[in-house]
Amino acid sequence: MQESFENIIDALAGQGLYVGTSILPALLTSQLYERVLALSSTAQLQSARIGRDARAAEVSAIRSDQTRWLDEMPIDPAEREARAKIEDLRAALNETLFLGARSAELHFAHYTPGASYKTHRDQFGDHDARVVSLVFYLNPVWQGAYGGELVIYDNERAPPPTSRASPQLARVLPVAGTMVAFRSEMFPHEVLAATRHRFSLTGWLRRDG
Ligand code: OGA
Ligand code: MN
Repeated sequence: MQESFENIIDALAGQGLYVGTSILPALLTSQLYERVLALSSTAQLQSARIGRDARAAEVSAIRSDQTRWLDEMPIDPAEREARAKIEDLRAALNETLFLGARSAELHFAHYTPGASYKTHRDQFGDHDARVVSLVFYLNPVWQGAYGGELVIYDNERAPPPTSRASPQLARVLPVAGTMVAFRSEMFPHEVLAATRHRFSLTGWLRRDG
């Protein structure tokens, strides 16, 4: 088992939240960045509001990013390698934490300047199959002045979306080399608007197949 998995396992077993070094190598992260830039410049990402879901309109009021789901067996080599790494993490988490995560769903996300994702949880009700949320940041350069932080709030004391004075567990700058992992049911979180284009690979380990 890789060293970096152990830090994630310990964090998920404890507080339920990991913010730290990515399990994806730097070269792969830069290849994923090139990939999402190419997809975005050829209009291959879609507004999150374009869904099959009956709640699509409601969703568009809280999030304004653009996404593209990865295939189960991606043809693109960088996507394929990322999926393989994340499958390794899924297996390690199942062995150690008995998560019973049977699959991983992954999408690229692009926040254009001004786009945001208001405070939410990644699990929508008890029936939801998401157990662990993962975010891998792709921008090689990111400064605090750009905004765009992921803000993670205390589980018990979720703030109203407009509040900035509520208990924050973490504020994460979306820069390549950083990843976040957390138990999907536990933490309300939001993505603040940025002044630059913000790219990530985001995923969820799921209980279903
Ligand atoms: C999400 C999300 C966080 C981020 O896509 O559900 O919360 O930092 N993303 O991009
Ligand atoms: Mn989320």
